[in-house]
Amino acid sequence: MIEHPDRNLAMELVRATEAAAIRAYPWIGHGDKNKADGAAVDAMRKFLGTVDFDGVVVIGEGEKDEAPMLYNGEHVGNGNGPACDIAVDPIDGTSLTAAGRQNAISMIAVSDRGTMLDASSVFYMDKIVTGAAGRGGVIDIRKPIGENIRALAKALDKDVSALRVAVLDRPRHAQLIEEIREAGAGTRLMLDGDVAGGINAARYESRIDMCVGVGGSPEGVATAAAIKALGGFIQGRLVPSTDDERQKGLDAGLKFDHVYEADDLVSGENTFFVATGVTDGEMVAGVRRLGPIIRTESIVLRSHSGTIRRVTADHLVSKWLEE
Ligand code: FBP
Repeated sequence: MIEHPDRNLAMELVRATEAAAIRAYPWIGHGDKNKADGAAVDAMRKFLGTVDFDGVVVIGEGEKDEAPMLYNGEHVGNGNGPACDIAVDPIDGTSLTAAGRQNAISMIAVSDRGTMLDASSVFYMDKIVTGAAGRGGVIDIRKPIGENIRALAKALDKDVSALRVAVLDRPRHAQLIEEIREAGAGTRLMLDGDVAGGINAARYESRIDMCVGVGGSPEGVATAAAIKALGGFIQGRLVPSTDDERQKGLDAGLKFDHVYEADDLVSGENTFFVATGVTDGEMVAGVRRLGPIIRTESIVLRSHSGTIRRVTADHLVSKWLEE
């Protein structure tokens, strides 16, 4: 019999994203994204080992031969408790962290075992994310962006000119950005980090109404877990970069002429999502040092209850960072 997670696992997992963010903190702005990521990975893995669950990493740091820790397929948790799929990104925004820029987070998403799409063989996914107003046929990724913008504005009872659309600032999005502006909406260009961008589009209190464009497909699956907990809307289409990648995707059972809905990306109804700020962002504040303490801010989501928690924690510097 499958044992479903019935406690708020995310309340325990938040310690792992806090730890990853704290360990990455000394590397913020030091120009070495691998050192920052390595410190975060190490800390996250140690803390995951203390949590009562039997997790399999569906989305991790890569294949076993290229990632010594938190590789796809690795078992995490202490093995007692619910069988789960887990997506980890110890730092989404490694370059942001290395440069000392805003919007880097540490995140974990969890759902029941066998319910998270393994899209790791295809790097990119075209995504569209909104809050609940985009559901019920209002938004469709197959439609031109202008049409989706007008439909969302109507559903939100807002003027199109008041709509803010987040897009990764990449040359591949030049035309998309032009079309968003032609439709009359404003863009919020992101240097990196489209997990936070997607979640912000679905949060009722954020300054973003929609997040669109091509970003990482693992990030798309992780975002879907959060969107399900937030009651928002997400669709994705896999975008192969090469013939080889397309073939790998097909071999893995992925589809390219298919619109992945939230339930295709994460089919479980019991999803958890947790993120801690590494550097300051709209969703969560970054790690900060305040005398003898280190303060972290996290967001903790659970689909079962729909609860959104903000967890601010003060950690003793003496226990965490070598002076
Ligand atoms: P990393 O921190 O793992 O480098 O990811 C940052 C990120 O911006 C993701 O949020 C996004 O999905 C992806 O990279 C976009 O990829 P690219 O930089 O190739 O456009």
